[in-house]
Amino acid sequence: MERALTHDEETWASEQLVLCRDERHGLRAVIAIDDTTLGPGLGGVRRRAYADDAAAIFECRRLAAAMTRKNALAELPYGGAKAVILDGGPVADRAALMRSFGRFVARTGGAYVPGVDMGTTTADLAAIGAAGVAVSCAQEDPSPWTALGVAAAIVAAVEQLDGRDGIDGATVLVQGAGHVGDALARDLAARGARLLVADVDAARAQALAAAVGGAVVPAEEALGTPCDVLAPCAVARVVSAATVDRLACRVVAGAANDTLATRADAERLAARGIAYVPDFVANAGGVVQIDALARGRDEARLRADVLAIGARVRGLLEEAAASGETALTVAERRAAGILAAARERRPEGRTPTATAAGA
Ligand code: NAI
Repeated sequence: MERALTHDEETWASEQLVLCRDERHGLRAVIAIDDTTLGPGLGGVRRRAYADDAAAIFECRRLAAAMTRKNALAELPYGGAKAVILDGGPVADRAALMRSFGRFVARTGGAYVPGVDMGTTTADLAAIGAAGVAVSCAQEDPSPWTALGVAAAIVAAVEQLDGRDGIDGATVLVQGAGHVGDALARDLAARGARLLVADVDAARAQALAAAVGGAVVPAEEALGTPCDVLAPCAVARVVSAATVDRLACRVVAGAANDTLATRADAERLAARGIAYVPDFVANAGGVVQIDALARGRDEARLRADVLAIGARVRGLLEEAAASGETALTVAERRAAGILAAARERRPEGRTPTATAAGA
């Protein structure tokens, strides 16, 4: 579901919105810096085609807002931001396009620290960084750590719902067999889960299903296929008023940013007895890894910090069960509390920027 911006509230929700255009390289991009209360806005660069400019701006701003909540709840010293590069077809010199984008990032004065997202690679981030800006993900793809955190979230949700240990025998449908979906499916299979794999790239789904002893589900049947856990690891807004009645799972928990089309979809899921783990809680493993790299933390500490997502999910679901709210409401309230407390402490006028070491 993509729609144009219509309300003032949405137009002004981001701290800063930058539209970028460089005719020489065919660049059209959007940078949305949602909130820098906790630090420079950290968020990936997505490259894909959009129906129109408004759809690109809409998606960019929503993803940036989710990054604010993600970084806050993961207790990281970053604000939220995101960028999208509108994919207008093949480009002659991709590195030059990325460097051009990097020059626009430079104009944010360090308030935006880009990383990898759908449609961009570590090589793209290295090219963006060549414009002299701090970037994340230029050396290492954080996807395996994102997958580890999503796995921890899924296990915690199943354990909390069923009052048991582990996920042995539970059926998990992974939608999207890409960087995160692949690692997630392998991790869960190793824990004894039964895997179903759906991808618009049928060969990719087939290869992953074979690797994890699972089965392929046609991409268009993913949402309606019975399973314990639906793990969206592909596109945004898969749960909407139009799709929620088709779902045949007990839990929705995955990596895909912006899984719900609207906040009301969390209530719709709850009304159907489906537990929803907010995407920005489950998929924080990647940003935790980015922060660990910047601080030079060792792998044991990083692993523990990523696995802490499981405890966070358990806490959210328990509070939601006790209060009768959705986990989304509880998570948003917690994030808002963290931001409000930080705003009290932060001197007026100081915009955090990336350090020379980058993020
Ligand atoms: P990716 O591009 O490596 O993989 C996406 C996969 O989904 C591809 O195999 C693609 O063919 C498939 N796909 C696309 N549309 C589909 C559809 N309608 N139905 C089924 N499959 C479809 O992306 P990646 O890195 O694995 O990310 C997946 C999601 O997780 C994205 O929404 C991303 O924003 C989110 N995410 C990723 C993080 C990371 O560390 N890579 C961190 C946090 C969120």
